[in-house]
Amino acid sequence: MNERILELFQQSPEAYVSGEEISRRLNVSRTAIWKHIEELRAAGYEFEAAPRKGYRLVSKPDKWQVTELLQGLRTKVLGQKVHVYGEVDSTQTIAHALVASGAPEGTLVLAEAQTAGRGRMGRAWHSPAGKGIWMSLVLTPRVPVYFLPQLTLLSAVALCRSIQKVCQVDIGIKWPNDLLIKGKKVSGILLESSGEDERLKYVIAGIGISVNLKVEDYPEELRSVATSLAIESGAEIKRETLVQAFLLEFEELYALYLEKGFSPIRLLWEALSVTLKRPIRTHSPSGVIEGIADSLDDSGALTVITGNGEKIKVYSGDIEL
Ligand code: BTN
Repeated sequence: MNERILELFQQSPEAYVSGEEISRRLNVSRTAIWKHIEELRAAGYEFEAAPRKGYRLVSKPDKWQVTELLQGLRTKVLGQKVHVYGEVDSTQTIAHALVASGAPEGTLVLAEAQTAGRGRMGRAWHSPAGKGIWMSLVLTPRVPVYFLPQLTLLSAVALCRSIQKVCQVDIGIKWPNDLLIKGKKVSGILLESSGEDERLKYVIAGIGISVNLKVEDYPEELRSVATSLAIESGAEIKRETLVQAFLLEFEELYALYLEKGFSPIRLLWEALSVTLKRPIRTHSPSGVIEGIADSLDDSGALTVITGNGEKIKVYSGDIEL
């Protein structure tokens, strides 16, 4: 009911909505409405009440609101079960535990802050309170274990496209899955998985998006390499809107992937890439590889053409542009 009441206020932002109108449209008593408004107030929504006019929604809380998130969510499965936390060590750890106790595909874990957010290659992920989207999504694709890199690339495409739709920023993907704006990292993806009989049993897609951080929210050493959507777009972004857009985009691409395989995802990734056809450098177990990033293969590996024309595949690691 709280969701339906909020929906009514959102249909007429700024305006007063009378108790009588709410009662008529939602078919509930005036006393029940009062009780729900009080519940919403306790959750951080601010209402102004005026005699004979009714209620006006003045402000919404800047904490994760499950009600609001679910209200605008157009997915069938992804995010339909949400677990929201204040401070956690890592949303990844929570998601693994939830899977162990039977959480279904699509379960989403969101936190305001992480004290031990983890990034790729054992790095830490800076996750200050209330400023970003720190989330983990449970997936159960019954595909071979070696398809995991494809899912990583799919996640990057979904993230990039949803950010393009919600924010006015020029964003691209650096192989394999870093999202960059003007060369600085704004988002990262970490997939952790468990397999059984050479098939994936489950995948936890960990997504970090630096949404509303200001320059001073970053430690000195990150300021030259990291940025946020708010810094780059010049406007605060509503986190719920971006999560909704991401989950919908992901659900559509995931369905496409399960039906048609990696090829259509590869084309989308290539269109968003800031890596292809550019000189890159990377470290491999057999030494430094330098060359032009040429293409993505069907496994998600990057094909690099070196100065002497040799084609080398890069399967993991970091590249320098
Ligand atoms: C990277 O680019 O290195 C990947 C960063 C992934 C960070 C996200 S934030 C939510 C989830 N929980 C974690 O501990 N890590 C991922």
